[in-house]
Amino acid sequence: MESRLQVATALHRITFRCAIGTPNVSEVLPVKLASRRMIAVISVAALVASACSSNATPAPSSGGGGAQTAIEVVSWWTTGGEASGFNAIIDKFNADNPTLKVTNSAIAGGAGSNAQAALQNRVLAGTPPDSFQVHMGHELLDTYVTPGYMDNLDDLYAANGWTTQFPKGVLDIVSAKDAAGTTHYYSVPLDIHRANVIWYNKTVFTANNLTAPTTWDQFFTVADALKAKGITPLAVGDNGIWANGMLLESILIGALGADGYNGLWTGKTDWAGANVTAALTTYQKVLTYVNTDHSSLSWDQAADYLIPASAGAQPKAAMTLMGDWAAGEFDNKKFADYGWVAAPGNDKIYDALADSFGLPSKATNKDGIKKFLTLLGSAAGQDLFNPYKGSIPANSTAGAPPTGAKQYSTYQTWAMAEWKADAIVPSVEHGAAAAPKWKGAFEAAVTVFVATPDVATLQTSLVQACKDAGVCK
Ligand code: GAL
Repeated sequence: MESRLQVATALHRITFRCAIGTPNVSEVLPVKLASRRMIAVISVAALVASACSSNATPAPSSGGGGAQTAIEVVSWWTTGGEASGFNAIIDKFNADNPTLKVTNSAIAGGAGSNAQAALQNRVLAGTPPDSFQVHMGHELLDTYVTPGYMDNLDDLYAANGWTTQFPKGVLDIVSAKDAAGTTHYYSVPLDIHRANVIWYNKTVFTANNLTAPTTWDQFFTVADALKAKGITPLAVGDNGIWANGMLLESILIGALGADGYNGLWTGKTDWAGANVTAALTTYQKVLTYVNTDHSSLSWDQAADYLIPASAGAQPKAAMTLMGDWAAGEFDNKKFADYGWVAAPGNDKIYDALADSFGLPSKATNKDGIKKFLTLLGSAAGQDLFNPYKGSIPANSTAGAPPTGAKQYSTYQTWAMAEWKADAIVPSVEHGAAAAPKWKGAFEAAVTVFVATPDVATLQTSLVQACKDAGVCK
């Protein structure tokens, strides 16, 4: 099977094929880490290529022993399935390595809305944790790798056979070439998430004879029916603005399709175009169907609006648009009455992001953290973590937790199949599509729009953000 996406830029036109022996983008074009435009092209293309599975070889298990030093990792996983999954893997590591102790200095705030700034400060100050959560792609490469803050993990990749276990598209966005053209790997992918999913309360939909919407027009019809019954159609928790930005991200994908959306981040699609205006107009209307208290809620509090306070009670809201960490949240709360559907217009398009952990050059316990990173990258580690998290494993040899362990959910089985079959696009809100500064400008524009929803102002800001990023002329 072969899947491909054509990404055109003013510089090059490249076709990516998921076929054994086909050169990857790094081979076709020397990676210039200084070129933002090129990184945008590579990130988009790499995520597309990720859907192509790689040859599988068995993962070795982690070793034991080591120094009696505490190992500090930082994540933003403090809630629900996020905390449960990470604790499961940390507990396993600490039990297997009694002379080592991994601690998660977690910083609350979905999508790293607080953790990312704190981490950057620590790295800049020369006092980083031994490892930290970082999204693959621009967030990792632009923020930490290009400026030289990370050690490469080539030895772990070689020792564990990871270059054949992680999909090529994933490898492309955790790696960079040095001046001599040699590829080095800079973080260990732990999961792959899907951002563009609508979650809904099944009982509410059945009781009101409604079907999960697959277009925004259907969404508006369904939302009007829900409103008439006194149910908030769409729960949003944007005390971190990223959650609202994800709405826009999904609407853009639906309006432009995979190629059109990818082109936004490579300069091929015009941010000033009429189809972007149409998407922004849809966004404006969607925001009239959200809960009034959205700005005081976190993403998980909004997701919890789908859960009735007691059996048989009406929940506060019927739907939420969120990444599939929401499945981890629902499962963790033992709420089974949820259904899901790709966000309107997003069917067969997987808006992807992935969490990884790297090795800061100034980490104080490199031997210990490398042991932990070995577990994170292994099939065993990924099958411990991901069933709680709502994500699918990044390691292609994972996917079958041992009997007695927590198994993948029905949603996750669906997501694994979609990952292989869908067009893959990179999430902007989760560090994959654009450089961090561009993401910041995107969010600033969204923040203004949420307060004063003027389509022309939003579009002007988005056009300017692409120019400021050096990708649009
Ligand atoms: C994403 C992250 C996910 C999940 C989510 C909500 O950025 O990749 O793992 O944690 O934020 O916090």
